[in-house]
Amino acid sequence: MDSIISISALSKTYASGFSALKGVDLDIRRGEIFALLGPNGAGKTTLISVVCGLVNASAGTVRVDGHDIVRDYRAARALIGLVPQELTTDAFETVWNTVSFSRGLFGKPPDPAYLEQLLKDLSLWAKRDAKLMMLSGGMKRRVLIAKALSHEPRILFLDEPTAGVDVELRRDMWQLVRRLRDSGVTVILTTHYIEEAEEMADRIGVIAKGALILVEDKAALMKKLGGKQLTLQLAAPIEEIPSALARYGLALGKGGGTLVYRYEAETEDNAIADLLQDLAAAGIAFADLHTTQRSLEEIFVSLVSEREPAGEGAR
Ligand SMILES: Nc1ncnc2c1ncn2[C@@H]1O[C@H](COP(=O)(O)OP(=O)(O)O)[C@@H](O)[C@H]1O
Ligand SMILES: [Mg+2]
Repeated sequence: MDSIISISALSKTYASGFSALKGVDLDIRRGEIFALLGPNGAGKTTLISVVCGLVNASAGTVRVDGHDIVRDYRAARALIGLVPQELTTDAFETVWNTVSFSRGLFGKPPDPAYLEQLLKDLSLWAKRDAKLMMLSGGMKRRVLIAKALSHEPRILFLDEPTAGVDVELRRDMWQLVRRLRDSGVTVILTTHYIEEAEEMADRIGVIAKGALILVEDKAALMKKLGGKQLTLQLAAPIEEIPSALARYGLALGKGGGTLVYRYEAETEDNAIADLLQDLAAAGIAFADLHTTQRSLEEIFVSLVSEREPAGEGAR
């Protein structure tokens, strides 16, 4: 496999004694869009901060296109653009100056044509002479993306790119990310939204409590994560589930007033129609029904509990 980033046995224990990463092994493929999916506090920002050289690892190694991030820091860092989770900007500078300066920091010669195209792609061109403090939150975020891309990195990290972002920026961002991928840039994004990972990623890694639980191609993972649940509020409580309904694997709620049916979103199109028919045939009436997608929280709980012993699955 042609990896552009190789992370091996990476651990991070903060000065507080908190262990934020626990032996992470991960290879990022050249040219892919990789989503690191996990709940708040899972260690996503810590992981990408280590790769970008902002946080020192406690143990393990990271190589970026063959360059060790400690011994060969400058070469590794020059390949990377980072859009941070937090908005931090130098308020009094203009958009153009901020982005050109950022390019200069990486020792790249000025390239006004490149920056012009970049600002146009991000709908920032009209704002090029505006001071950052005059911009809306969404515009500031666009500037952060422009800064991250100013030195033409081969790898782009986006840390929670759409948290608190409006629909228009989200759409522009996804278009930009796809264009970047098409031009050979590797993109790694972190998110706690399944939908975001689903929308964007070629592969998804799930992280929880500092451990990488699994890494899979999106299609395979969405199947696992995509489970839905149908809850039927019964017109009158029942004592047990009739044997005629056994094949659905229903669960009877407390007091016998609800029936819960779990199913996969895509695979069982007719199952609900069949179930409702069989219910009627069994003389069970319902007063209400609703479906829910499994929440991320539930999914993590079930993934963690299904988890193989340490070391399995993280490849
Ligand atoms: N500088 C720090 N010192 C101590 N603990 C930290 C520090 N930064 C982050 N943490 C803790 O490490 C855990 C992972 O944080 P983070 O990597 O930001 O998670 P995520 O980005 O997935 O939300 C959290 O419990 C957080 O409180
Ligand atoms: Mg974070």
